[in-house]
Amino acid sequence: MNLIDGKLISQQIKDELKEKTALLKEKGIEVTLAVILVGEDPASQVYVRNKKKACEYIGYRSLSYELPAETTQEELLKLIDELNGRKDVDGILVQMPLPKQIDEKAVIDAISPSKDVDGFHPMNVGALCIGEEGFVSCTPAGVIQLLKRGLPADYDISGKECVIVGRSNIVGKPMALLMLRENATVTVAHSRTKNLEEVCKKADILIAAVGKAGMITKDHVKEGAVVIDVGINRNEEGKLCGDVVFDEVSQIASAITPVPGGVGPMTIAMLMNNCYEAALMHNKNV
Ligand code: GUN
Repeated sequence: MNLIDGKLISQQIKDELKEKTALLKEKGIEVTLAVILVGEDPASQVYVRNKKKACEYIGYRSLSYELPAETTQEELLKLIDELNGRKDVDGILVQMPLPKQIDEKAVIDAISPSKDVDGFHPMNVGALCIGEEGFVSCTPAGVIQLLKRGLPADYDISGKECVIVGRSNIVGKPMALLMLRENATVTVAHSRTKNLEEVCKKADILIAAVGKAGMITKDHVKEGAVVIDVGINRNEEGKLCGDVVFDEVSQIASAITPVPGGVGPMTIAMLMNNCYEAALMHNKNV
């Protein structure tokens, strides 16, 4: 069984970006990410800190906006508008979730699609849907990299049966579109799917993105399948765990991602990749 090491692969991607960023700097181009955090949610604070640390490691400039929990939607939209207009800002990231007085959709829609490094804007989602260029949501983009870099070189996604469990806008749906782009045969299962075990057992590649610990057991997995666990949950003991029962599924899978250390670290690596692409796009003529 092959344990797919997301920590290692995300490090490779960050190191590649670090080298390419040094070359951009020689041309006078600096990659800049603006990170906005509203309120003091501890988990969000950790995520934002890690994103800023990754910028520092690669050599990007990060601008940090830490706004009080009472910030109004109008105030946040005004800041986004200002950042949209700044030539020295390549990417804008508003950490979710937002306090309840702010409509997340209005915020996502306000970010210029060319600076939407999260890939959440409807323009970017639409571009993915019809096979045009655009920013892709970081977690599903990270899963594609795990499959391409974490499996034997002769492993081909093309023609494989792929089952995705979960249909969120941020993971399940873009994941399905990306796997389709890689020429997999894609099934999206969800909470109303009948005979989930049977559906999952068809999969050569099974991607669990439900957000429920213990959801995927050995009864859902075909012998030799590749299993990608996108879930980040806490069990009764407070330990981090995925959607997949790792101990039993790892006995029958040919490859599997651990939690932590699988998909998680890839999200930030792909965010960094999107920032790099944004800077290239904004400096086309240099
Ligand atoms: N909150 C949890 N995940 C994410 C993410 O990928 N991007 C943003 N902006 N907020 C999040």
